[in-house]
Amino acid sequence: MAARLLVVDDEEDLLELLVHRLKRKGYNVDYSLTAEDALPLLKKHYYDVAIYDIRLPKMDGITLLKETKSIQPDVQVLILTGHGTIETAIEAMKVGAFDYLAKPYNLSELELTITKALENKMLKEKNESMRKIIKKQNDFEMVGQNRRFQEILHLTERVADSDVPVLIEGESGTGKELFAKALHYWSSRAEEPFVAINSGALPEHLLESELFGHVKGAFTGAAQDKKGLVEAANGGTLFLDELGEMPLVLQVKLLRFLETGEFRRVGDVRERRVAVRVVAATNRDLEKEVAAGHFRQDLYYRLNVVKLTIPPLRERKDDLPLLIDFFIKKSMPDIAKTMSADAMAELQSYEFPGNVRELHHIVERGLLLSKGQTIEAADLLLPNHSRSSEFADVPCLCSLDELERLHIERVLNQVEWNKTKAAEVLGISVRNLYRKINQYDICG
Ligand SMILES: Nc1ncnc2c1ncn2[C@@H]1O[C@H](COP(=O)(O)OP(=O)(O)OP(=O)(O)O)[C@@H](O)[C@H]1O
Ligand SMILES: [Mg+2]
Repeated sequence: MAARLLVVDDEEDLLELLVHRLKRKGYNVDYSLTAEDALPLLKKHYYDVAIYDIRLPKMDGITLLKETKSIQPDVQVLILTGHGTIETAIEAMKVGAFDYLAKPYNLSELELTITKALENKMLKEKNESMRKIIKKQNDFEMVGQNRRFQEILHLTERVADSDVPVLIEGESGTGKELFAKALHYWSSRAEEPFVAINSGALPEHLLESELFGHVKGAFTGAAQDKKGLVEAANGGTLFLDELGEMPLVLQVKLLRFLETGEFRRVGDVRERRVAVRVVAATNRDLEKEVAAGHFRQDLYYRLNVVKLTIPPLRERKDDLPLLIDFFIKKSMPDIAKTMSADAMAELQSYEFPGNVRELHHIVERGLLLSKGQTIEAADLLLPNHSRSSEFADVPCLCSLDELERLHIERVLNQVEWNKTKAAEVLGISVRNLYRKINQYDICG
């Protein structure tokens, strides 16, 4: 796309000549004779380079420069100065001008300066986006040398940049969200938003409006128009977490959105369109859910183009030493603690129903409880080993809330963190279970 320039000079002939020449060079050029007329333009369009005469009738070029920087900090401003205004030119540089040229200037010289300003701007933008990406990439690190894990990582890299939906299956705590983020940050969408929505965590009636937005008056309490997350994710990635929990009625709308990119805000008749990459995760076996009539087959097929199946930790125990080392360094970067051979052996024979998340917690607890340089088996408090005594440990004088929390935790552990099963055992809805998990801050 051609760069967009803004030229402000009160000498009409000079301005005309310059604008004509720059347009011929292929730039998009806007112009005005006064600073006052330039301000509305700055509020309306993004400019790459602005060229201001320092002497203008009312508001001068320096003031315009300052205004410009507060409206559009990234625009590169060139100042044109007359004789005897070098000091002002230097002042201009101090308040953020890219460069200045003395009048009468040579047109080729001006063009060269514009090119430099554009290059400078591009470089800055590139640095900025690299900085952002590096920061985000540092926020998540994926550890694993296991062959299956590596295969999935490679597949993730290969499909990251494409637009096709991706379905991520895996038990709780295996790293589904981590993979969803990898798909985003390893793609050209990295600088665009990554927006997550958990179908299990919201009451059914709010989910649609959260996802697609609503218009004023769509339902009681809808006091004004509201954008949905689909719109917030425009250009980036929409992560549909716990997709298996999505109500069937909403599944129909999601399918339509996946097929056409179109949707309606709740209560609206207008179609809207956005471009988002959809990544969905589930810890249920969707094929079984389809067979049971809980999940739409057409939506399943639509999402199943690329499937990442993250293996449970018990099937990739060869990664235990690496992961443990990673979590120890993460918690205590300065202290070199290690697992004792006994502790390691216990971990090797443990099943990890809560997968990597559970391992993380076990390591953190081990670090906290260990006294010397090594974490001993006893410091791990592995649930299997303490389960029988755990219940006896529930203090008699505890509140009902405390008891509820402990009971939910035990049930979750017992059913390997399968929330559907846990909800069944507890006799509550999955949604209700999610609420309690959040309320009590329960994690595997
Ligand atoms: N391979 C890995 N390397 C490093 N950390 C990992 C790895 N896999 C998972 N983790 C960490 O384990 C925790 C759980 O991961 P994540 O939230 O992605 O799991 P999940 O599959 O989405 O779980 P749930 O089904 O409960 O939502 C996170 O803190 C994540 O950073
Ligand atoms: Mg998750």
